Amino acid sequence: MNAKTLLQDDLRYIWHPCTQMKDMDNFPILPIKSGKGVYLYDFDDNKYIDCISSWWVNIFGHNNSYINARLKEQIDILEHIIFAGYTHEGIVRLSKRLISALPNKLDKCFYADNGSSAVEIALKMSHHLNLLQGKNKSIFLSLQNSYHGETIGALSVCDIGIYKQTYKNILISNMQTPIPKDSTRDSINIALNELDSILQKHSNSICAFILEPLVQCAGGMNIYPKEFVKEASKMCKEAGIYVIFDEIAVGFGRSGEMFALEECESTPDFLCLSKGITGGYLPLSVVVVSDDTYDAFYGDYNKSFLHSHSYNGNPLAVACANATFDIFENNNIIENNRMLSDFIFDKFCELSEFSIVSNIRRKGMIFAFDLDVKYDRSFSLRFANLALKEGLIIRPLGNVVYFMPPYVITKEEVIFVINALKNIIKTLGK
Ligand SMILES: Cc1ncc(COP(=O)(O)O)c(C=O)c1O
Repeated sequence: MNAKTLLQDDLRYIWHPCTQMKDMDNFPILPIKSGKGVYLYDFDDNKYIDCISSWWVNIFGHNNSYINARLKEQIDILEHIIFAGYTHEGIVRLSKRLISALPNKLDKCFYADNGSSAVEIALKMSHHLNLLQGKNKSIFLSLQNSYHGETIGALSVCDIGIYKQTYKNILISNMQTPIPKDSTRDSINIALNELDSILQKHSNSICAFILEPLVQCAGGMNIYPKEFVKEASKMCKEAGIYVIFDEIAVGFGRSGEMFALEECESTPDFLCLSKGITGGYLPLSVVVVSDDTYDAFYGDYNKSFLHSHSYNGNPLAVACANATFDIFENNNIIENNRMLSDFIFDKFCELSEFSIVSNIRRKGMIFAFDLDVKYDRSFSLRFANLALKEGLIIRPLGNVVYFMPPYVITKEEVIFVINALKNIIKTLGK
């Protein structure tokens, strides 16, 4: 099939996610034929650097020969098995590895198959856990400008109007508390004081506090201080409110450490992981909880946590997750990323020569800047289109341009990206 026919059939049969399909008249989607490393190739063999790791999932490059090999091995052994009443070798191995990589009090893994489902599980489980203790608490607390997914529960704890507004009448009860406006002690205290006054008034009805530790990714790569994460979590715990860390985007090295909770020196009651867990190959997510939580559900039938998905713990996804862990363990990734991050940030700062670029920032392997341009809803597509011409796959969030590459990107490729970004910014500035 050639690209033209593919595109016609795509538009005839498919409704793409998070897209106003009418935009496709002006900004047609790009059929991708193959991938290798940081590159994706179209049907004319043009290559593009995947600057956004295909929605932040692909951490070790496309068509990674090591992950491919582990996946191919698994496919000849077991492709899937119902995960209620049955288990398999890969998932036991993965769970052991996860638990030993995480702090004490994160002892048991509950699996699902995407980030939003992990958030749903954490919300439901925290509510259920309260019920088991005779407490009917039904409000969820999250941060202003938060993003946790787009299913009804996850959307309820989001605070990004374009996703949430339309559905406000069908959401579950939620409240938001501010994030510090910068990393100064004063700003942290102001945000903590606001949280304190919410807790004073509502702690008896707040079930759990959910946050994306260190970086609100979909909220515009908004980096905020670890002290706030640590102190806000402590305050909530002391007020009898469960703490959920949503590390779906920042986990697996993206924030700099393997998990952001390490830097925040705090252990949540529920930890949600997904995205990088399979190296971007197959859908998988997990909610990690303590033995105390697990024990509270253990016993009579009426205590059971009745939540499942058909593809829970899929062996193919799990094989990719174990392969991803192998790569972390055998290649000193977190340490190497520290040097890579410094190199990228150094180059990224060259963009400050443009007056329309401001607030250049980074956290681990997340890099971003704001663009002072006349912004409208199609800006991201216009930018993405210019980027394609320069050989980049990149999609700004509003006027925030971010770079979240696979960790296998080379210095030469980084320099290529920076030069391409300069060309795009020059064109925009005209
Ligand atoms: C922090 C965070 N939580 C949850 C989600 C939802 O994950 P998924 O898209 O796999 O449902 C995302 C997705 O971008 C995310 O960034």
